[in-house]
Amino acid sequence: MALSKKEDFKAFADAPRRSQPELLTRARLKALSPQARAEYDRLRRIWHANLGPIKTPQLIELHEDLWDITDSNLQDGDKAKGAVAVDAFPGLGKTTSALAFLREFHRREIAENGEFTAEGHERWPVCRVGLTGNTGMKDLNRAMLEFFEHPGRVRGTTVQFGRRALDCILSCEVRVLALDDLHFLKWRKTSGIEVSNHLKWIANEFPVTLLMIGVGLVDKGLFSEGEATGDAALAQTGRRTTRLSIRPFTIDSESGRREWRQMLLALEQRIVLVDKHPGMLANDLSDYLFARSTGHIGSLMTLINRGCQRAVRSGSECLDRDLLDRVKNDEASENARRELEAALENRRLTSRPRSRLSA
Ligand SMILES: Nc1ncnc2c1ncn2[C@@H]1O[C@H](COP(=O)(O)OP(=O)(O)O)[C@@H](O)[C@H]1O
Ligand SMILES: [Mg+2]
Repeated sequence: MALSKKEDFKAFADAPRRSQPELLTRARLKALSPQARAEYDRLRRIWHANLGPIKTPQLIELHEDLWDITDSNLQDGDKAKGAVAVDAFPGLGKTTSALAFLREFHRREIAENGEFTAEGHERWPVCRVGLTGNTGMKDLNRAMLEFFEHPGRVRGTTVQFGRRALDCILSCEVRVLALDDLHFLKWRKTSGIEVSNHLKWIANEFPVTLLMIGVGLVDKGLFSEGEATGDAALAQTGRRTTRLSIRPFTIDSESGRREWRQMLLALEQRIVLVDKHPGMLANDLSDYLFARSTGHIGSLMTLINRGCQRAVRSGSECLDRDLLDRVKNDEASENARRELEAALENRRLTSRPRSRLSA
């Protein structure tokens, strides 16, 4: 599901939300015929592998900012539009949150303005490109043409590809151009200027909100004022770009602990294991899950997803320390885990809010 082609993106935007499989009792689970049981487990496998997106405070905040910026950019004329950069570490939910926003934006624009423009072209409120590998300027321009499946995406120069992409953007009345994993652009020292000029060209010529997403964009100079390098082009990209980030969950304040608890309660609701109980995550596993994920939603979701698969397969039908201890997580969270676990065990730290009012 790369979502780098318009029809795939539309299918994603139009797809109804998955429906949660019914939670059976143990007795009803046992009473299922082998076929019905296989089907039930299959549905749960798919469900647990796709638990999201959950409306975390981080996602809600990001969406508010994105609506503010895109909607204030909908002014007429050729005034240059503000750009946005979502810059945060991997696994914090950049792609997930941005896609959820783009989905809503696409749906709203199509509902209000129809599937076709006044000129009779297909309307595509969103153009989304996911970068891979070592992408150069030409590849970036080509990727935009790939999104539209433009026949002129095979042969041409960087400039020709760029012009064709602009044509598509104009005729399809694109409003948001999202470039995900922008850190994959070749930012070699010598071509840093080339990159910034290119992004500036897009920001100036394309009447869109440019949504740039990536890791370490600040370090790559996207926002630098350009004085040190004397690079005026870079300076301009910086000035019109609003920088947004996504934070991990933290437990060093009461409000942070409350957010963590809300997240676990929301997750509990979605888990379809017949022996789950209220507080299974939010009470019994709060510290444990924080230590293993260090507050990173990507690690948390991986752990819960894998844990649920194992709980179904093994028949234990519930999540606890024993089972989760046997589930592997990514390397970065495993390293951070050991230190944090020591602190939690010494009770120097807790992930649980003092008041349980929020439950
Ligand atoms: N709001 C959310 N609700 C549920 N799962 C999420 C949410 N945000 C992120 N995830 C999960 O965390 C993982 C990493 O998210 P992703 O969006 O790919 O992060 P990034 O793009 O920042 O690297 C994904 O597997 C995704 O399913
Ligand atoms: Mg991503």
